[in-house]
Amino acid sequence: MFARSPSRVRPSGPRPMPCVRSPLSGAPSGRTLLLAAALALPGLAAAQVPAGEYAARRAALLAGVDSGVVLAYGAVEPVTHWPPFSQLPSFQYLTGHAEPNAALVLVKRAAGTTATLFVPPRNARQELYVGARVGPAEAAARTGLAGRPIAELRPALDSLLAGGLPLHVVSDVQTADFAAADTLTRGAALVAALRRDRPGLRVQSLDGAVLRLRARKSAAELALLRRATEISARAHAEAMRAAAPGCSEGEIQAVLEGTFRRLGAERPGYGSIVGSGPNALKLHWDVNDRTMQAGDLLLIDAAAALAHYSSDVTRTMPVSGRFTAEQRAVYDLVLAAQGAFVRQIRAGAPVAAASDSGRAVVAAGLARLGLIESPEARYDAAAPCRDGVCAQVGLFAWHGYGGHGIGLEVHDPAGYYFGERRFEPGDVFTVEPGIYVNPTVLDGLPDTPRNRAMRARLRPVMARYANVGVRIEDVYAVTERGVEWLSSGVPREADAVEALMRERPAPLPGGGSCGETSS
Ligand code: GLY
Ligand code: MN
Ligand code: MN
Repeated sequence: MFARSPSRVRPSGPRPMPCVRSPLSGAPSGRTLLLAAALALPGLAAAQVPAGEYAARRAALLAGVDSGVVLAYGAVEPVTHWPPFSQLPSFQYLTGHAEPNAALVLVKRAAGTTATLFVPPRNARQELYVGARVGPAEAAARTGLAGRPIAELRPALDSLLAGGLPLHVVSDVQTADFAAADTLTRGAALVAALRRDRPGLRVQSLDGAVLRLRARKSAAELALLRRATEISARAHAEAMRAAAPGCSEGEIQAVLEGTFRRLGAERPGYGSIVGSGPNALKLHWDVNDRTMQAGDLLLIDAAAALAHYSSDVTRTMPVSGRFTAEQRAVYDLVLAAQGAFVRQIRAGAPVAAASDSGRAVVAAGLARLGLIESPEARYDAAAPCRDGVCAQVGLFAWHGYGGHGIGLEVHDPAGYYFGERRFEPGDVFTVEPGIYVNPTVLDGLPDTPRNRAMRARLRPVMARYANVGVRIEDVYAVTERGVEWLSSGVPREADAVEALMRERPAPLPGGGSCGETSS
């Protein structure tokens, strides 16, 4: 029960070359050859963040610090049912060290800078359970940092801070989205103790500085995201081939995640979202336990993480292999909105113009379909809407058109692609419009004359489009050379999706209802 796989905690760096076999069948096939060719792409085996880049990141962070001590804690060993260990993104960014219970201390003084990685000493008994860990000496050899035992962290900090240096903290939170609210981490507890002992201690957060550095991707990071996205696209293609009535969402999740691993990714970048029928309306559905029916749409939002870098890809498909007229109308509208956004991407262009283009396409299209009364039509809400305008288009398109940066977190925290920002080289981000016709969306609105009229007009149309949920999410990069579409490896035009679904896979290894319906 307590024995864990020795390989559970991974060193950083690329996974080894995977076996070259068809993801769904042991038999060689034309697809196998294509896959072999794809896996042989130059640069795949070399894809990793070079050691010197970590030092450059630390130097860039320290460039914004006058003097002081920088403390960044890594993730602690998970204990409850031993979920897979995952390093904290900002700690990973600054160290490349992917093992638990470590801390980084940088010191900047007039005399110069030092950088030390504090890690647990090796423990032969523990390594029987978890496999080899690095210990201070090997951590130092791997990272180029000085290595010390973690037990020396507190005395070292006490000694450094006794001289009156300020403390700069990189929060040890799992996702920086919640950094401001988290006070329960090991690092936060240590900082609180240091403060208690030194009432005059100056403490500043470096979270914003690290997140701004993380938002701009290096060539090595782009290479990892490109490969993670290629793997994700290939997994989506396999899922498209496998999806069929009678198949459970979980079986498709297994196809996706099995393909991630077979192609060399270490894990899903986030909980795989496999939503059919009404579940396609749930943005972060990850229970994945429904059996798909003919006539459903299936929305899959799933992507691989490679060397800690996560992609983010969504495709929507008809479970039966053919879109109904209503499904296709909404699908084509989402695709057109995505195209309108993408056409605006170029270095220096405002993100808001791209979002406005996508939104204009959706508003005009929903009005044309009769799902809203006009592109500008509004409704009366009980509470103020975002931007102060309760537009009917927002009843069906709930989230942004351009999405968010990807990187060490699937939502790279400093990288939301709306508002005042402009596209710049180094941006790697999603474009992910979605339209969701939730039959209950008009329920509970205030009973006003405007809402009564709207309900009377929209409800019959909505009944025809009920449970149509479509999101199409692709990954783009802005580089010095132009704009790169990273997720082109899986079809997104409706005809191409249907064509791929006609390529039924060989039965899945071990059987299952997807295999039965497709054999
Ligand atoms: N997969 C989460 C998102 O698309 O933002
Ligand atoms: Mn996304
Ligand atoms: Mn997504």
